[in-house]
Amino acid sequence: MAHSSIEVSISFEDQYEVHVGQDIRRIFPSFCSNRYSREKIIVVIDEKVHRLHGEKVQAVCDEYFQDSLWLSVPEGERSKSLGQWQSLIDRILGDGVERGTPLLAVGGGVSGDLAGFVAASTLRGIPLIHMPTTLLAMVDSSIGGKTGLNHDTGKNLIGAFYQPDAVFADTAFLQTLEQKEWITGMAEVLKYAAIRSPELFDQVAGLSRGALEPGEEWAQIISESIRIKTDIVEEDTLEAGKRAFLNFGHTFGHALEKVAGYGSLSHGEAVFAGMIAATYFSQHLGHPVDDIRFAPFLPLYKQQIQSMPTDIEALIEAMKTDKKVKDNTLQLVLLKDWGSPYIHPCTDFSMLREAWQYTLAQFNVNIIRYK
Ligand SMILES: NC(=O)c1ccc[n+]([C@@H]2O[C@H](COP(=O)([O-])OP(=O)(O)OC[C@H]3O[C@@H](n4cnc5c(N)ncnc54)[C@H](O)[C@@H]3O)[C@@H](O)[C@H]2O)c1
Repeated sequence: MAHSSIEVSISFEDQYEVHVGQDIRRIFPSFCSNRYSREKIIVVIDEKVHRLHGEKVQAVCDEYFQDSLWLSVPEGERSKSLGQWQSLIDRILGDGVERGTPLLAVGGGVSGDLAGFVAASTLRGIPLIHMPTTLLAMVDSSIGGKTGLNHDTGKNLIGAFYQPDAVFADTAFLQTLEQKEWITGMAEVLKYAAIRSPELFDQVAGLSRGALEPGEEWAQIISESIRIKTDIVEEDTLEAGKRAFLNFGHTFGHALEKVAGYGSLSHGEAVFAGMIAATYFSQHLGHPVDDIRFAPFLPLYKQQIQSMPTDIEALIEAMKTDKKVKDNTLQLVLLKDWGSPYIHPCTDFSMLREAWQYTLAQFNVNIIRYK
């Protein structure tokens, strides 16, 4: 199967490559041979991925490196913790590490964010390579250089911007991905469709009608998604402006996650519903967008979502206390048209109420109404 390579240049001195395709991990040894000493590699890997795909990863590491230190991370969001970070650092420093020893992060966004921060903070930075294994990690978390941990007071509050040397998005890993993880990652792909590439809607709709499994078309969709994210990140590496467009649907989505209670609604499910709300809001400001584009995917998300918040006032309250609210103004990412996002400073919270009513109705929610 063909694969594609994308060269991402983050800044003049700081370039990295992104390779996408079936079995693309096989070019990993030759990539390493031009850069690192053969002595040792550190592999930080999600425990479940270790069980399912450890041999594949081991084979490509052994082809070049004489030694490897394997560190498994328990699956799940709780691993993005200071405790996990410390235990990885203890093992790495205890085993011996040099400034040039590379760290390979294998897994979804959880192990990638954690391993990325370990690489950023060990000896003030050792080389990092991402080998993402979920759709979400391929199209989103491994790209852009954000690494991080959660704190008791909130998600992703500890971390650093730290770019990898390369990303190898091998679709062979997706063979074992559960349907709910496909759906989570798909929400981010649909976000790219909405903000940059509306043609992606039809492509993904075609694929989502059948069984969700990797193939050449998904490899193309993943490449296109990565290209969109890298273009936006390249224009705004440190999140000063355009990078905010990547938050389309997320301000609404975060409110849903918060009100539902973290963990009861997946991030992808919340973002999907959030994009419907943001599209409704855009349409009601007179922009020519209609959420019909999301309709083919609605049954998939409805079937998967266990419970949706019902209290619109609580959702609005959650949006008002979002850390991005300044001077009682909410910075919403909306659409002037498909593929054309902009930032709307929202002070009219009654419009939010309507957007929520419409969105929750799509999910057949019995809304709590206040007199
Ligand atoms: N750094 C960023 O820019 C960024 C962007 C978006 C999200 N994130 C973070 O990403 C995290 C979510 O990532 P995620 O959705 O990949 O979750 P995850 O890493 O928890 O993976 C989801 C589940 O899939 C399993 N899994 C991974 N690969 C598999 C495979 N190939 N086959 C079968 N099972 C597999 C994992 O064990 C886990 O149970 C969140 O912590 C979020 O904050 C970071």
